[in-house]
Amino acid sequence: PLPALTPKFSNILDQVCIQCYKDFAPNIIEDQAREHIRQNLESFIRQEFPGTRLNLFGSSKNGFGFKQSDLDICMTIDGLETSEGLDCIRIIEELARVLKKHSGLRNVLPITTAKVPIVKFFHVRSSLEVDISLYNTLALHNTRLLSSYAAIDSRVKYLCYTMKVFTKMCDIGDASRGSLSSYAYTLMVLYFLQQRNPPVIPALQEIYKEPKKPEILVDGWNVYFFDKIDELPACWPDYGSNTESVGELWLGLLRFYTEEFDFKEHVICIRRKNLLTTFKKQWTSKYIVIEDPFDLNHNLGAGLSRKMTNFIMKAFINGRRVFGTPIKGFPKEYPSKMEYF
Ligand code: GTP
Ligand code: MG
Repeated sequence: PLPALTPKFSNILDQVCIQCYKDFAPNIIEDQAREHIRQNLESFIRQEFPGTRLNLFGSSKNGFGFKQSDLDICMTIDGLETSEGLDCIRIIEELARVLKKHSGLRNVLPITTAKVPIVKFFHVRSSLEVDISLYNTLALHNTRLLSSYAAIDSRVKYLCYTMKVFTKMCDIGDASRGSLSSYAYTLMVLYFLQQRNPPVIPALQEIYKEPKKPEILVDGWNVYFFDKIDELPACWPDYGSNTESVGELWLGLLRFYTEEFDFKEHVICIRRKNLLTTFKKQWTSKYIVIEDPFDLNHNLGAGLSRKMTNFIMKAFINGRRVFGTPIKGFPKEYPSKMEYF
């Protein structure tokens, strides 16, 4: 049994969450630097491949980026709607050959065996890691979706940053090492905020003014969502009804995923408000099941081992205890620990 949340402690938790954002979000200069790198790379590649277009996506654009987050870039070719008929592996290898001649880059490496083939490299001046993928079109749309959620309410932003800091501190936030991606954890935060009573955010994919939900197909999936956030107050009856503080919500989230949410029964699914069962999706062999908002065949928890799942659940249980227990000196210890990454 944990002590009740006193106003004073609640206030401290608010500060901790807001500090996560302040410490790790890039400033305008750093954001512009990312755009500069994109432009520079685009011009460089165009010298050999005219018509090449580079788009930023992922946390550089979704509103939840860290100063040191990698730079995710999607390459497309003017006049080509899709990658159909393209030899993506060969293009990635060619791209790597071109980028190796760029004096500002190191460790240019084509990775053609992954599900999404990429070229990886290190941009020396910014010390940023860069990934270029081809026609990663759905990712451009989920980036826009996340950034729309971030624009609804500042608590969304604070909580997603807190979650990212938390998962990195607990070492459960690296998909390349068998855990979940930051994208997956962001979906968990958004789902919690939709299911909260009253909700903090709606399911944007369920809001529309037309009599029927519009259909915008990309790679066979409907990527429609309501993106006119300034019109949300008129289109979503629950707008503004949740007045909880960030700290309350953060503890609420830890409680939700440790005590309330039934992982065996339900899917973490942000595309609709109604609960979705693991049975309906036939995704019953995994404990943590997270449905991609557009690619409905994609379970972001599919790669988790049994052991990693337990490790993640334990991190949440510990987090619930640590953040739910007011102790002397708290939160001064947190910002100092956060300096390490
Ligand atoms: P950082 O940890 O700050 O880099 O966050 P990030 O959101 O940029 O994560 P990451 O670099 O791992 O992924 C970049 C983007 O790719 C995400 O924001 C998503 O748009 C997309 N993405 C990542 N993982 C998946 C996935 O499993 N499925 C899909 N559809 N998109 C993904
Ligand atoms: Mg990234």
